[in-house]
Amino acid sequence: MELLKAAIRDVGQVLNDNVLKVDSFLNHQIDPALMMAVGEEFARLFVDEGITRILTLESSGIAPALTAGLKLGVPVVFARKKRSAIMNEQAYHTQVYSFTKQETNEVTVLKKFLPAGETVLIIDDFLANGEAALGLASLVEQAESSVAGIGIVIEKAFQNGGAKLKEAGYRVESLARIASLSGGHVAFVEDLAQVK
Ligand code: G4P
Repeated sequence: MELLKAAIRDVGQVLNDNVLKVDSFLNHQIDPALMMAVGEEFARLFVDEGITRILTLESSGIAPALTAGLKLGVPVVFARKKRSAIMNEQAYHTQVYSFTKQETNEVTVLKKFLPAGETVLIIDDFLANGEAALGLASLVEQAESSVAGIGIVIEKAFQNGGAKLKEAGYRVESLARIASLSGGHVAFVEDLAQVK
């Protein structure tokens, strides 16, 4: 998605060979116009899948999930990383390990917001090792619903998440795929393909 790639090039900061900082439009401050375009692109990609619900993970997945949900006309649910004191109803849980943060979070969603028999689109901001997306897929499967696909805003294609999700049989659509962050420079997968 060219608009997204332009934003990454213009305001993304490469912190090191593994981490791209995009807190000016996605992870802290949010660019509403760009997020609308992101949601429209997810909707275009998944419109034929019969999506009935979107599931994401707090916090940075919420903005792109919301705009995709608006465009597809379906409810958006976010799994929580911290159990709320008033979440005393029946819930599904799964453990998500973050290699980036080296911590495990228990991720929770109330059963009433993830019913059986739904066709669910999973959306997340970053795909690195795929653990968050696999955790969300596990919640959907616990609910006896099906995962129609996984929509990712920014995939770090030099990490193994994309391959893991595809091996597990999921359709993965990433709007920007980063091949490398080496030398402080963002190289997209398409850029490298053109060089070859
Ligand atoms: P994985 O789910 O694909 O295995 O990824 P990982 O555990 O490595 O990622 C953990 C957190 O770090 C996630 O945010 C993810 O979005 C974020 N992250 C991973 N790589 C990058 C990167 O290169 N840049 C940025 N900006 N973030 C990255 P989170 O803990 O869920 O945070 P938030 O949603 O509350 O903002």
